[in-house]
Amino acid sequence: MMKADTMVDEAIRSRKAVRAFLPTPVPKALVAEILDVARCAPSNSNTQPWRVHVLEGEPRRQLSEALMRSHAQDALPPSRHFPEDLPTACKARQAEFGARYYAALDIDRADTEARYRQTGRNFAFFDAPVGLIFTIDERLTRHSWLDCGMFLQTLMIAARARGLDTCPQVSFVRHEPVIRDFLHLPEGETVVCGMSMGYGQPEAALNRLAMPREPVEAFAVFSGFAGE
Ligand SMILES: Cc1cc2nc3c(=O)[nH]c(=O)nc-3n(C[C@H](O)[C@H](O)[C@H](O)COP(=O)(O)O)c2cc1C
Repeated sequence: MMKADTMVDEAIRSRKAVRAFLPTPVPKALVAEILDVARCAPSNSNTQPWRVHVLEGEPRRQLSEALMRSHAQDALPPSRHFPEDLPTACKARQAEFGARYYAALDIDRADTEARYRQTGRNFAFFDAPVGLIFTIDERLTRHSWLDCGMFLQTLMIAARARGLDTCPQVSFVRHEPVIRDFLHLPEGETVVCGMSMGYGQPEAALNRLAMPREPVEAFAVFSGFAGE
């Protein structure tokens, strides 16, 4: 029997952004079970600001279709997810991500058309059977968005512990008007991000990016510990 810490670590370490899924369906009861774990995520003053729409079957297909149409029309303003002056270290990591991502697909970085086509794969939920759209009341500020982040990560780890794969996706934000219309989002509710969920194709090149992480010394400063 694996120890609890080993099991939790394994779920965290084996989670990765999966972008090619098998058609294997995910039962509603399993998604509900995962959400039941995710709701244990902490939030500032227990405000639990997250909302999620879980789509499968025909609604998932129809939303995908509407999003892919919007993507093909390319009429909505691009949504910026990073500031112009992205810190140098983040910029370097972003560039490395792009290099690995497009190399795995054999897409030339200068081929903007192929890159745009690939971005469109987001809206097919990378063929995952389940698509999720996370929303929040737009009056809430950055700490509540932090709560949503914790909810998302808890959900992804709970999914991984059950053999499922996920990909969190900010690319949906550009098409918020389409999503708003499709999901009948109430006034004042805004899209945080989307997510694909299902069983990943282990052999797909895009699922083998193995994005690197900085070692602990690169981001942590320890002080006051015995023996220093
Ligand atoms: C908030 C957020 C938004 C993301 N948006 C997208 C996206 O729109 N499309 C995509 O393919 N991956 C997206 N990703 C996945 C990241 O590219 C991925 O997590 C990162 O490169 C690290 O790789 P790993 O998750 O496989 O370890 C997003 C991740 C996060 C946390």
